[in-house]
Amino acid sequence: MSVSCVIGLQWGDEAKGKLVDLLTDSHDIVVRYQGGSNAGHTVVTGGQTYKLSLIPSGILSPQVQCVVTGGVVLNPASILQEIDGLTARGIKVDSNLMLSDRAHVIFPWHIAEDAILDKSCSSGENIGTTMRGIGPCYRDKVARSFAVRLGDLYRDSFAGQIAHIAEAKNATVGVLADGKSFDPVEITREYQAYAERLRPFVGDTTAYLLDAVEANKRILLEGAQGALLDVDHGTFPFVTSSNSSGVGVSSGSGLPGRWITKVTGVVKAYSTRVGGGPFPTEQDNEVGQHIRDRGNEYGTVTRRPRRCGWFDAVAVRYTARLSGVDSLAVMLLDVLDEMPELKICTAYEIDGKRVTNFPSHVDDLRRAVPVYETVPGWRKDTTKVRTMADLPKPALNYLARLSELIGRPVDVVSVGPDREQTIFAQRKG
Ligand code: GDP
Ligand code: IMO
Ligand code: MG
Repeated sequence: MSVSCVIGLQWGDEAKGKLVDLLTDSHDIVVRYQGGSNAGHTVVTGGQTYKLSLIPSGILSPQVQCVVTGGVVLNPASILQEIDGLTARGIKVDSNLMLSDRAHVIFPWHIAEDAILDKSCSSGENIGTTMRGIGPCYRDKVARSFAVRLGDLYRDSFAGQIAHIAEAKNATVGVLADGKSFDPVEITREYQAYAERLRPFVGDTTAYLLDAVEANKRILLEGAQGALLDVDHGTFPFVTSSNSSGVGVSSGSGLPGRWITKVTGVVKAYSTRVGGGPFPTEQDNEVGQHIRDRGNEYGTVTRRPRRCGWFDAVAVRYTARLSGVDSLAVMLLDVLDEMPELKICTAYEIDGKRVTNFPSHVDDLRRAVPVYETVPGWRKDTTKVRTMADLPKPALNYLARLSELIGRPVDVVSVGPDREQTIFAQRKG
């Protein structure tokens, strides 16, 4: 039995898509289980770049079954666009994709509300969401009264459900959004048309995955976002609205934790963050700009420039433990190729006290002054390196130090966006 998970350990965009694509061939099923079209996962293969948002990165391997579970919030227009885009590029998307009838559906009022809420964050600083309606949809799911699941779109009660919800949303979101009005008849018609097109994909993914795990299928669970964006354990309130750390795997997928056999934590060789919130090791200077330029650090979904900084081992040690990580994949190592020296944050100083546990409150994190260890850079091109032994010595030392600080071995090192540009390390111990 094998149920593996790929979890981002920073603030997202750790190159989970590339890793999932690489691991797909040794699995039967690839699963997206939380988040929504806030995610943008990039896979580069054979000179082609694919940007996946709701569809699992396993879709590029036609023999693999891809599953989107009920933990995901689903915008039907977005997923149809993704299906059409992939199909037009010759990628098979038919019976190899299954969508949960339990997935909650994103409506125009969620997107309108995302914009309103983000402007009026109680902390005074914007979360800087992706404006995809993710937070309001998850909020409606938990609040229950105005929630719609994908399976509801096929029921006779759907039109009545939308009439009831639109009335309430017109009186609340509509008023706040400068009198914007949501027409229930139009929305019902639009979503019924989406539902017709999506019908062949929709099913009970919980039952499917439970059967699969009992039949010893090899399952790969693809996390979205990163553990520091986890709604319960991340840098709240500057987080997303789902459990994006390892703790979210079971609730999102419907697979009990006892089945999970391996968790790979994905990190960049440095740190990035899109949107608001504290970022202790941020380098809002020429170092950050160099990383942004070399790493092409612009959001996959929103194209916003990503904030860049040094590797934060305090944060990643925390998220690796939280997520039950067995081993690490260190991605984008090549981005650091030209750096004369590198800094690793090994502790914080908060109000004069040295701290190695990640603070639970953002105000404390905001006051955290990183304690850095400075190590030599390698100033060599690593993009053509394919074995650990061929990596420059300072690069090996850097990886070894990250591994030591996080307390997990490094299994995979990535030195470029392409599938080929990957080093699988020999697992020690
Ligand atoms: P995800 O959301 O975690 O899947 O990551 P994104 O796709 O949003 O961002 C990762 C970016 O880094 C993408 O543009 C990838 O093509 C690119 N990438 C992945 N691995 C590497 C690497 O080792 N080196 C470089 N330079 N780029 C990489
Ligand atoms: P992938 O899967 C990076 C960030 C947003 C914002 C916060 C909340 O590609 O790693 P949301 O729209 O989710 O309510 O926004 O979370 N965010 C991401 N940052 N990568 C992502 O996904 C993200 N998904 C959400 O920028 O700060
Ligand atoms: Mg991304």
